[in-house]
Amino acid sequence: MMTSVLSTMAGDSPAEKLINSSRTLVIGHRGFSQIAPENTLPSFKLAKTAGADMVELDYYHSKDGELVVMHDGTLDRTTDAVAKWGGGKIPVGSKTLAELKALDAGKWFDPQFAGTTVPTLNEALDLIQDGNVTLIERKAGDAATCVKLLKSRALVNKVVVQSFDWSYLADFHALEPDQVLGALGPSGTRDGKKLTDAEKVLSKEWIDQALKSGVRAVGWNNQVTKEAVDYAHSKGLKVWVYTINDQPEANRLMDLGVDGIMSDLPGDLAPA
Ligand code: G3P
Ligand code: CA
Repeated sequence: MMTSVLSTMAGDSPAEKLINSSRTLVIGHRGFSQIAPENTLPSFKLAKTAGADMVELDYYHSKDGELVVMHDGTLDRTTDAVAKWGGGKIPVGSKTLAELKALDAGKWFDPQFAGTTVPTLNEALDLIQDGNVTLIERKAGDAATCVKLLKSRALVNKVVVQSFDWSYLADFHALEPDQVLGALGPSGTRDGKKLTDAEKVLSKEWIDQALKSGVRAVGWNNQVTKEAVDYAHSKGLKVWVYTINDQPEANRLMDLGVDGIMSDLPGDLAPA
């Protein structure tokens, strides 16, 4: 009895509803990053307002162990860290949360966003989860810390978690089997060998390997085929594609049967 009640609850969760949706999802990539600085609260707010099904973000660990939202492994491109501290290629993980919070993460994009700060994952979740679903991409750090954060906030399966690091996903799945996970690809190498363009195309082999990590979706670039999408579906796996910013390409991919489009302009793409 307990099992069936828990199963029903899991099936009704926001992440399960999205993974089981029959329509094509539109996912705001780093928020609505075409019109606001990526991975900031203004960008997430705009993606929500635009009606995105999910809002994607990336996270790292700060030097003192806080989960912070940033795409690059260094602070140079999307903050004023170099202007402030000098040098270059400053790793996110070399600075404490207090140091990161002193940075401006908006004015590089447009002066109107000056004063925008680097959000913590908690701050991003406060905003996005109020009416939407966060697609959390782990860029660095262990699975246990993210699992602990989601559990402490009762957010397991109210978000989706994805990564290019499939061993992280396997670790996450072992710790929290109910959480809906997505495997990102293609990676540039396999078994230490640089992959050719042909080897990076989504294939049965990639799909079979992804399934071993306990994932429910793969997130791929536009190197997908109808055969691979059909195979993924036959295995119960959804296929989401990134980063698609024009309607003809979105239409081509939807014709192949993809289940989600990650876009920098989620408000401007029409789902199928
Ligand atoms: O969500 C997939 C996509 O975000 C992966 O690429 O480099 O934008 O994190 P990237
Ligand atoms: Ca990402």
